[in-house]
Amino acid sequence: LGSTEAFGRLPEPNEFVVIPKSEIHCEKYTGSTHAAHCLIYAENNERVFDIYNPRAAILMQLRYDGYFGFPGGLIDAGEDFVTAVNREMAEEMNLDTSKHSVNHDDHVISHWSEKRNLALHFYKLKVNMTDLIEIERQALLAEDYGSEVLGTVRVPLYTLGDHYRGFPVFLKQNFIGCSRDQLMAALSSLNILTPEEIQLALNANSRNV
Ligand code: GTP
Ligand code: MN
Ligand code: MN
Ligand code: MN
Ligand code: MN
Ligand code: MN
Repeated sequence: LGSTEAFGRLPEPNEFVVIPKSEIHCEKYTGSTHAAHCLIYAENNERVFDIYNPRAAILMQLRYDGYFGFPGGLIDAGEDFVTAVNREMAEEMNLDTSKHSVNHDDHVISHWSEKRNLALHFYKLKVNMTDLIEIERQALLAEDYGSEVLGTVRVPLYTLGDHYRGFPVFLKQNFIGCSRDQLMAALSSLNILTPEEIQLALNANSRNV
């Protein structure tokens, strides 16, 4: 038995495939719907309850449809990905994009769903902790707050002594699109968690509680 089967559940089917970086602007995707979203984060090693190292403050949002996801949205006609994600962060989070904005170098990963003819592009925006707290506060005044967006949350990246509460529990939430994969990809490529820590969180089982 593989480790996943041993825990009594199969890997969730994933309709999204990673687009190689060199193929993101490929003709294959010109007729597709495109959207771009962003992980806003700050390094943060200040212990929670004097015990848990939060590692980073990563922002996600509760959407109007009940799913968790990242700020961002659909690319409008004539817009490039970076312009769109910055505009959506202004609409959904009231982000001051004259101070904080993403550029092409902040691209993390792109995914493609053939079934939905949908390409999803993912960016990162690193800020310091003081600015992150200000961004959280400003988000309450966003144009889309209370409609498209129901709130900003920080992702708990630590795991409690029962090996389940904290990050593993958070990963049981319902995530829109491939936002859960985007989160895991960013944690790994931004070196926020080690591959071992990521694997532990993915394999954690409530039976241990
Ligand atoms: P409107 O302004 O109401 O049109 O919404 P939007 O432009 O903000 O679009 P939205 O953020 O809902 O993103 C468009 C589509 O992308 C959604 O229907 C989802 O399928 C997908 N999506 C939304 N959020 C995320 C996310 O965080 N990650 C990923 N991978 N996909 C997402
Ligand atoms: Mn209390
Ligand atoms: Mn939007
Ligand atoms: Mn959106
Ligand atoms: Mn939109
Ligand atoms: Mn909108």
